[in-house]
Amino acid sequence: MIKVEDITWVRYRAPDLKLMAEFLADFGLQPVASTEDKLFMRAYGRMPVAHITERGPAGQIGFGLKARSRADLEKIALELGAPVERRTEPGGGDVVTVTDPDGTRIEIVHGLEYPGPLESRAAFAFNPKNARVRYNGTVRVKSAPSFVQRLGHVALFTGRFAAMKSFYTDVLGMRVSDEYYVGPSTNVMATFLHCGLDDEFVDHHTVALIGNGRTGFEHCAFEVTDLDDVMSGNAFLVSRNRWTHSWGIGRHVEGSQIFDYWRDPFGNKIEHWTDGDLVNDHYQVGRKEFSPEKSLSQWGPSVTQDFLDP
Ligand SMILES: [Fe+2]
Repeated sequence: MIKVEDITWVRYRAPDLKLMAEFLADFGLQPVASTEDKLFMRAYGRMPVAHITERGPAGQIGFGLKARSRADLEKIALELGAPVERRTEPGGGDVVTVTDPDGTRIEIVHGLEYPGPLESRAAFAFNPKNARVRYNGTVRVKSAPSFVQRLGHVALFTGRFAAMKSFYTDVLGMRVSDEYYVGPSTNVMATFLHCGLDDEFVDHHTVALIGNGRTGFEHCAFEVTDLDDVMSGNAFLVSRNRWTHSWGIGRHVEGSQIFDYWRDPFGNKIEHWTDGDLVNDHYQVGRKEFSPEKSLSQWGPSVTQDFLDP
């Protein structure tokens, strides 16, 4: 087993890179580089690239995970019989490319070069009752795309739930945060996995698995600056009058994020979120019965058919 400590980028395929770039710019990502066949977009945070699209029939290819150390990278190469290769894409570094049991491409990387964060806006200070912090100050929100800070997680459909869970936990060292079952409590159909780094606090889930018989991405999710950034980013995307909203704004149960889901021009679900839970390996694992009404959100509009559709 190795340890991975973060998710790096998602990699899709699409027939029209210009259209993808236009959507992602409105979503709040920034261009890094583009060639005839590849589009590289980044967030405002330190990761050199967060979203990669390759020209081709619309689809999903996979995602990257950051190995905790060089030794972890070499270990996974040995365990899975894949070479350590030099990356030639933005960020450089070394990569071991493997596939999970569903055939999703996983790029395990180490030694990325970080270009430094882009200039963003600071999170607004909130003035909740009994915890005032903003005095002689104001909040002024500009109409603009969200200031997307980083890729946070992917959720994957799977028809091989046990094999997929075993791959992400036994091979990549992830740990269960929460799970859902349907029918008997042994019939677990969804699991939320965090990077297992012992005492270190990480996102509640970096990978979520949903065992509904399909394969592929259910969605990918990007962390924005704060609550205003979710709301104003939504207003900006609505104002463009050319993109498809999927579901939101609401607050999730598992992970607690305030969320807003959109569809990219090729039908992929993509999420803005803020205010997620941080957990470590001492988190009390939850196991509950799944309910579409209660398990997906604590407040917000009822779940939409678009969100439930793959
Ligand atoms: Fe999500």
